Amino acid sequence: MKKILSIIGARPQFIKAAAVSREIGRRKGLTEVIIHTGQHFDHNMSQVFFEQMQIPEPVYNLGIHSLPHGAMTGRMLERAEEVMLKEDPDWVMVYGDTNSTLAGALAAKKIGLPVAHVEAGLRSFNMTMPEEINRILTDRIADLLFCPTQTALDNLEREGFDHFDKRVLLTGDVMYDAYLHFSDLRKAPTGLKLPDKFGLVTLHRAENTDQPETLKQIVEALNEIAEELPLVLPIHPRTFKVINHSKLPAMSNKILVIEPMSYLEVLYLLEKCFLVLTDSGGLQKEAYFAERPCITLRTETEWTELAEAGYNQVAGTRKEAIIKAFRGFVRKKPEFTSGLYGIGNAAKMIADAFLQPEL
Ligand code: UD1
Repeated sequence: MKKILSIIGARPQFIKAAAVSREIGRRKGLTEVIIHTGQHFDHNMSQVFFEQMQIPEPVYNLGIHSLPHGAMTGRMLERAEEVMLKEDPDWVMVYGDTNSTLAGALAAKKIGLPVAHVEAGLRSFNMTMPEEINRILTDRIADLLFCPTQTALDNLEREGFDHFDKRVLLTGDVMYDAYLHFSDLRKAPTGLKLPDKFGLVTLHRAENTDQPETLKQIVEALNEIAEELPLVLPIHPRTFKVINHSKLPAMSNKILVIEPMSYLEVLYLLEKCFLVLTDSGGLQKEAYFAERPCITLRTETEWTELAEAGYNQVAGTRKEAIIKAFRGFVRKKPEFTSGLYGIGNAAKMIADAFLQPEL
């Protein structure tokens, strides 16, 4: 029996783990122990995902959150090491690009444990993003890299990964697996009166929320768009804090600002919305799965295939550019074809990989 110790801590990782942990749970030769670092801790940023998506309860919750990057990563590193020494797993598995990802991977390698990275090879080529640093370092030390796209595989090749002693596998995207599994279970948010036609907005990236001028441009663009298309904004706690404490232009009353939603509620909002405006990585793909156009409120994306196909306009953060992208999609909605993120068997491929005798 192979023991996998998985480390998760932030919202997008719960969604990915829902797909992968279910598959691991089905395999006779695999057992999983989950560590929750505590990075996300509000009920609707964390617990609700475990409840609705039947993710196995974490055996350990490290309770580490609301700290500067160094302190957060450092404490996670220390506590994760203690758990790893106690559990002595065959593999440590980390997801994505958060501080929890890097801390988990580094803790494991420091004590000689092999690391598997789900969502390997993504790059924004923007070294000011904490997520980009987390990705690059995690990929470099991981032993088994699960790539969601051909672009991710190409990125690793360009960085010389075929010269390193690693296994790199193209699996497709576990978020597509999650979407296929859960989309029939989507759930209307309770007590909300949604406009008939609306745009779905999310905003949480530090490079947007922590730069007053950038945030001002985005809010002004959203206010103007809301005059033509009402918007619904499930607000991330980081953004909520910033908006409440800054001298930004007020948000239009045509923007319905609501609590962070569960995954099943987001799936419902996606199904009902006309388009998506976001700086999230995951939501860009979910918009594509639901065949909704997406405007990315960043200057670059890791999901370049969406932009190349015309499903996603990477608008940047200037007011005029965001509004122009919006007008473009109002004039012409893209024709969607599927297949960019695999066929929905990424989690199966990941579970199978752990069972290969040579690993
Ligand atoms: C983190 C990840 C990012 C991911 C995002 C998904 C890093 C560097 N960033 O960003 O890659 O896309 O999660 O949401 O790891 N907070 C709460 N309640 C919560 C969670 C957070 O109040 O349940 C507060 C924190 O205390 C902090 C702020 O929100 O003040 C930001 O949280 P943090 O964990 O630093 O990063 P995210 O912006 O969520």
